[in-house]
Amino acid sequence: MIVYFSGTGNSRFVAHRLAAQLGDALTDAGPLIKQGGPVALHSETPWVFVAPVYAWRMAKVFEDFLHTAELQGSRLAYFLLTCGSDMGGAARALRPLCEAKGLRQMGVMSVVMPENYLAMFPVPNRGQSLRIIHAALPGIREAGERIALRRPLPAPRRGLLDAVKSGPVNRGFYRHFVSAEGFRVTESCVSCGACTERCVLNNIRLVDGRPVWGEACTHCMACICHCPAGAIEYKKRTVGKRRYTCIEPQDNLAKKS
Ligand SMILES: Cc1cc2nc3c(=O)[nH]c(=O)nc-3n(C[C@H](O)[C@H](O)[C@H](O)COP(=O)(O)O)c2cc1C
Ligand code: SF4
Ligand code: SF4
Repeated sequence: MIVYFSGTGNSRFVAHRLAAQLGDALTDAGPLIKQGGPVALHSETPWVFVAPVYAWRMAKVFEDFLHTAELQGSRLAYFLLTCGSDMGGAARALRPLCEAKGLRQMGVMSVVMPENYLAMFPVPNRGQSLRIIHAALPGIREAGERIALRRPLPAPRRGLLDAVKSGPVNRGFYRHFVSAEGFRVTESCVSCGACTERCVLNNIRLVDGRPVWGEACTHCMACICHCPAGAIEYKKRTVGKRRYTCIEPQDNLAKKS
């Protein structure tokens, strides 16, 4: 079973591609995280977990979900982590999760996809995004072939700097940087409620038709990037910047470019 979490669609895209290649079942963890409560999943085929990299580790919101979920059946686990450039030491950082769940780690592979961290960086335009996604396809396919044969994924790079980025820097990032405090809404808001629906942490409610952010936020960028009116800003950093959402998994890349 392929289980994924995605804020802006990149990991969803990769998960769907793999599911189509492997003919395997697909589970979106987003609604399960949003609804809360205990989750039990069963898979006879290897577990394939697909999620974004946040500060050189698999997104904490997904790691927390996997820690609490009951995973029955296969004990083989593959991880495909989508990132803008680099997953650092994310592979090693996933060992405790695998140990806790009794899973055998069959490999952790990064898949470079378009950058989505609007609160920090500019995101690529449509043409650039399509080229990046196109370049990712052979790696996704190769991973799928290895998974089908129950072979490990290629070993990732391991360096001291990677361990620092995925360790203390990651912890500092969540402690000091990840907060909904900077989000605000502009006059363009049309009160559609899409932001409240998109937030897997139920961190947004509409008050008099306008979003108000709470304290639980994982900076997934779903609310700001999916707002149909472009009415959400994060501090002054996002003003005038384009928003990013991934193309649909079934979209024909050749036709789009
Ligand atoms: C909070 C946050 C932190 C991120 N940290 C990293 C990172 O450490 N390295 C990296 O290459 N990309 C990083 N990115 C970029 C995303 O990993 C990348 O765009 C990913 O494919 C987004 O996946 P999604 O569309 O499924 O949410 C970060 C994005 C966000 C929102
Ligand atoms: S998604 Fe955008 S337009 Fe819709 S309620 Fe939220 S801020 Fe307003
Ligand atoms: S408030 Fe926005 S950025 Fe924060 S977790 Fe919810 S959808 Fe993601």
